Amino acid sequence: MHCETVLQPADLIWPLFVTDGKGAEEPIPSLPGVSRWSSDGIALRAKAAVEQGIPCIALFPNTQPDRRSENGIEALNPDNLMCRAIRAVRDAVGDDIGILTDVALDPYTSHGQDGLIDDAGYVLNDDTVEVLVGQALNQAAAGADIIAPSDMMDGRIGTIRSALESESHVNVQIMSYAAKYASAFYGPFRDAVGSGGLLKGDKKTYQMDPANGEEALREVAMDIEEGADSVMVKPGLPYLDIVRAVKDRFEVPVFAYQVSGEYAMIEAAVAAGVGDRNALVLETLLSFKRAGCSGILTYYADLAARLLNE
Ligand code: PBG
Repeated sequence: MHCETVLQPADLIWPLFVTDGKGAEEPIPSLPGVSRWSSDGIALRAKAAVEQGIPCIALFPNTQPDRRSENGIEALNPDNLMCRAIRAVRDAVGDDIGILTDVALDPYTSHGQDGLIDDAGYVLNDDTVEVLVGQALNQAAAGADIIAPSDMMDGRIGTIRSALESESHVNVQIMSYAAKYASAFYGPFRDAVGSGGLLKGDKKTYQMDPANGEEALREVAMDIEEGADSVMVKPGLPYLDIVRAVKDRFEVPVFAYQVSGEYAMIEAAVAAGVGDRNALVLETLLSFKRAGCSGILTYYADLAARLLNE
């Protein structure tokens, strides 16, 4: 009789992987059913998203190895893969879709870390923040609507916020990956952006310990204080307790990312004949809403929207 929670296409953000070229599609083996697309293909998918009522896409570039470097400087190139994809989407659908862009250096570094590293391979917080500001401004200038720092450096939200203001990108929002855990669920993503094979070690010095819940709330409080418009919890399903705690404690929209490993797990279950894809997808996405999410980043956005629109 009464349904407390409703899932709608408007709740979904669709992450898309970008590759070079024209008319190019590169299937990603560890994410069966997901491909990298060249900008023209990304634009087509943005069109499809608009038609299905998906309000936002998230772009991730797979940068060619010869454009990666120790300091990830390609992140600042106004003509890099990300910026070209943003412009292609704008040309195709104008402002009918929101474009969210990830701020972190891992698609551009030759070592696969999210920031600049010292000789011992340790990520340097403050030096990294300086580059991230340049990256965020570069994306905003290309037309991004939402800047999503996923790097987990301390102090980057405030610094990016003031840089956006002073460069007159006052309407660009910041969705902070505030509670991002050092997780075993990111493997397929790292294949998708080509950083997996390069990464030595792990990201545990800047991503959070899965054992910590209170720390997540401190990270969220800090990012809101520094000017985040919304916050994200990541991964998704194993961290719905964090989503709920953030939702109860703070008055900003909270988003969650159903990450690549979660997607791959569902696909593995389907391939093994132990689960029904459509049912698993709709149930997991509904659970995010029940936990308090304002929206969900999911590789299933297109499928889910189609099912919901049927
Ligand atoms: C990059 C980034 C990662 C994801 C989103 N942005 C990977 C990482 O931190 O290594 C993961 C998304 C996914 O697994 O789907 N900083």
